[in-house]
Amino acid sequence: MSFPDNFLWGGATAANQYEGAYLEDGKGLNTSDVLTNGSHTEARKVTWIDKRTNEKGYTPVLWGEKFEMPEGVTPAVLDDAYYPSHTATDFYHHYKEDIALMAEMGFKVYRLSINWARIFPNGDDEQPNELGLEFYDKVFDELKKYGIEPLVTLSHYETPLNLSIKYGGWIDRKLINYFERYSKVVIDRYHDRVKYWLTFNEINAMDLAPYIAGGVLNPTPQNRAQAAHNQFVASAKVVKLAHKIDKEIKVGQMLAFQPLYSYTCDPVDQVKIMELNQKMLFYSDVQTGGKYPEYRWKQYEREGIILEDSPEDYEILAKYSADFLSFSCYGSSVFTTHQKEAENSGNLGANGVKNPYLETNAWGWATDPECLRIALNTLWDRYHKPLWIVENGIGWADVLEDGKIHDDYRVKYLKANIKSMKDAIELDGVDLLGYTMWGCIDLVSAGTGEMRKRYGFVYIDRDDQGNGTLKRIPKDSFYWYKKVIQNNGSEF
Ligand code: BG6
Repeated sequence: MSFPDNFLWGGATAANQYEGAYLEDGKGLNTSDVLTNGSHTEARKVTWIDKRTNEKGYTPVLWGEKFEMPEGVTPAVLDDAYYPSHTATDFYHHYKEDIALMAEMGFKVYRLSINWARIFPNGDDEQPNELGLEFYDKVFDELKKYGIEPLVTLSHYETPLNLSIKYGGWIDRKLINYFERYSKVVIDRYHDRVKYWLTFNEINAMDLAPYIAGGVLNPTPQNRAQAAHNQFVASAKVVKLAHKIDKEIKVGQMLAFQPLYSYTCDPVDQVKIMELNQKMLFYSDVQTGGKYPEYRWKQYEREGIILEDSPEDYEILAKYSADFLSFSCYGSSVFTTHQKEAENSGNLGANGVKNPYLETNAWGWATDPECLRIALNTLWDRYHKPLWIVENGIGWADVLEDGKIHDDYRVKYLKANIKSMKDAIELDGVDLLGYTMWGCIDLVSAGTGEMRKRYGFVYIDRDDQGNGTLKRIPKDSFYWYKKVIQNNGSEF
């Protein structure tokens, strides 16, 4: 058997990278709205103001490195900075056109995120913002018109900024209640049209970029552990409430996963790989497996980390683990303990050694033709729960030639990846629900804030300075993907 008949082919986006309209119809500010643009060599920055002195400044967000905001400053939008999320590629005003393009490609599913601050502008409001809710009503109705199934992420790299300023982000247990309130409102409202939900995008980003993953302003190891714990409990509570609202609903986890290779056969390198795997899989061991693994308790013991928790937390984690495990996978990474300079980067800023067998793009991300099969087998063997590839794709500085984009490099990457996931189904029998290519219509890069790092099947006329008409232009890959969906992956 190849791809099952009901296999969900489609694409994925996130509100803060795609929607724009950052203050329209009552939306509040998100943590992503005070993030400037950057590049492959320059980090994005959080801008802030010191209300005591009126001093303005910024703090770089370097994935996997220290994030140190000066004490007492408040993240804020500054007049002379450029924030890509404010307009992004303006799905807010183009949703009909964009969904029509998705339908033309034959999408069975579209993964999008709801912008929390559009629904609860401050995060801790008592009542939701009706205009925000109406926007997603229109989006889901439009998808229904074309028979496209929505897959909705409740929190994709954004937290209402007020929750960050007032409570320090996800380190405070109060956020569990605010997230539960928000989730209940949207699941109640949309459950007739939305069957598949995800709680936190790439929840393991809490290890590398706690500001992005949870609005954490002071990311000590203790605070990171607490913020992750609070998100786990919040996720389990959402599984519980969603099942109560509608038995048909499935709530998944979303993990950033990449196969990790050792550069040498030195046993010390294998231990390093084992530990890096533990770091990544800790998040799915809890959220999908339902239980904290011993290796993490031992680490907390060594580091003197003590969680603010209760016995009920662990009961709810065990009882309401995720219904399925979704994940992003862009490629693999190579590591060694030996002297070797890090040359490649990958998803979540994991800086590894260059793999001599693989080609990379301009941002150092490698195309690995076996990575999805390895990822799918690793996760299937460990949890035996249905899987879903919700992000995969390649960023490229596409060039418009005579009004067209000839992106054969993208097609080459996707062919290799589709073959790899097909092998996992055909040769290994993994249970895979679907595949949503990342950034199906061009959007802002999360890591760099650039427009020029494009993933889409559809080009959008917009540059890194915010110029452009926002016109949509299908690329060559658009027509290729349409055929793949048409023949359900039997040819690609
Ligand atoms: C994932 C995120 O980490 O990778 C997306 O969930 C992101 O939001 C994607 O856009 C690709 O990364 P980047 O940095 O190239 O945008």
